[in-house]
Amino acid sequence: MRKNKEIQTVRYTLDNKYKNLGVNKSYAIFTYGCQGNEADSEVMAGILEEIGYTKSNDPMNADLVILNTCAIRENAEQRIWGVLGQLKGRKRENPDMIIGIAGCMPQEENATNKILESYSFIDLVIGTHNKNHLPKLLYEAYMSKAKVVEVISSEGEILEDAPKIRESHHKAWVNIMYGCDEFCTYCIVPYTRGRERSRAKEDIIKEVEELVSLGYVEITLLGQNVNAYGKDLKGDYTFGDLLYDLDKTGIKRIRYTTSHPRDLDEKTMRAMRDCKSVMPQLHLPVQSGDDEVLKKMNRKYTYDEYMTKVNRLRELVPDIALTTDIIVGFPNETKEQFENTLKLVQNAKFEGAFTFIYSKREGTPAASMPDEVTDEEKHRRLEELNVYINQGYLEGHKRFLNQIVEVLVDGPSKNGEGMMCGYTPHLKLTHFKSEDLSLVGKLVKVKVTEAKTWFMIGELCE
Ligand code: SAH
Ligand code: SF4
Ligand code: F3S
Repeated sequence: MRKNKEIQTVRYTLDNKYKNLGVNKSYAIFTYGCQGNEADSEVMAGILEEIGYTKSNDPMNADLVILNTCAIRENAEQRIWGVLGQLKGRKRENPDMIIGIAGCMPQEENATNKILESYSFIDLVIGTHNKNHLPKLLYEAYMSKAKVVEVISSEGEILEDAPKIRESHHKAWVNIMYGCDEFCTYCIVPYTRGRERSRAKEDIIKEVEELVSLGYVEITLLGQNVNAYGKDLKGDYTFGDLLYDLDKTGIKRIRYTTSHPRDLDEKTMRAMRDCKSVMPQLHLPVQSGDDEVLKKMNRKYTYDEYMTKVNRLRELVPDIALTTDIIVGFPNETKEQFENTLKLVQNAKFEGAFTFIYSKREGTPAASMPDEVTDEEKHRRLEELNVYINQGYLEGHKRFLNQIVEVLVDGPSKNGEGMMCGYTPHLKLTHFKSEDLSLVGKLVKVKVTEAKTWFMIGELCE
């Protein structure tokens, strides 16, 4: 039962009319942005294959190309305009090609206007809230030969029972909630993804049980703020409860992302200690180490409150690997404020971070804040910060030297012939010598022999 009656669960069904729409046609989906988008692309792929499309071996020349876009920072958008430029040429050679644009960019009015005005070769614009309409919208695109635009700006629905083509056979994304109600002042996500809405726990548990029966080893629970799970549902079932319940399904590894520090509660931290399947690793975005900046960002916690949570986590899970997100150059950030971030980085002992220069997003409160800091200074701060962050990556790997770690094997390494790689419980990328493809998707023991900044190297134990 939901507190907000406007949010509805929609069970996916396919109208017979669209059943063979994609027969003899190929598709390609280009995915940008966060894991939420990766999970959405798996659903779009599932829907497309159900109506007959096959995955293209030559993505830039597929019969249907969908860009699943991200609007988080300006450079994310620039990249997409660039790909669209290339696709324009392909479409000229192959006028029957259908080009669709999905994801977060269409949810921004400015971007949609730009698409309508300057990118006339795009056939389909759909946004984040209506993947289930894909067959109908494609049908209209084929029938009308005119641009089909359906961007829904509502609170959003929860789509259940849609088909999915998962990228991996051993690791799976599992959405537990959609949207975000935090409204950090720099961030576009609450506008592109709508209100926070949680899936029913029964649907989540059923999905994980199915994954276990299919042989999946690891799941990552997804949401923009997973710690707010359940707040929109009636009752007092929380994210911590969900972790305890999912631990009982028999899935071997559970991770989750992303956590908002304010909502990370004692029960969740205890679940991390108590549940064997919940991995000793957490991504806990801090954004800044300065109280004034945190306030202007509307993050709703202070330096001390963040550190109190970190210290409590380390009490409960002493070997936890913590990573974070940091923004430098938030409007009018002073040198002292930036130094407070450096101080926090050293105190929190992060073992990795995504670091960003603040990017102005139209329509967000921070976009109208005065900003006197030069680009040059922002870049300098980013570089200085990254020296500390990279040191943290290295330290995080060094602590496993000469230890035996368990690696879930993903496949052959990209950087080295005869090597394979995978991740440890602490989410450390580990390469080891082997060409045995039968190890893919298995948990193996590896003795760590070298610690680098970005990865570890080890030897497979017999
Ligand atoms: N919901 C997640 C993060 C989603 S966006 C969370 O709050 O933790 C991923 C990261 O992008 C954010 O953590 C933030 O560090 C960064 N980010 C978001 N908006 C940004 C902006 N306007 N400029 C620069 N970085 C931004
Ligand atoms: Fe954006 Fe803040 Fe929501 Fe994360 S919690 S998605 S940073 S508004
Ligand atoms: Fe980007 Fe949208 Fe995710 S803006 S980070 S794809 S929620």
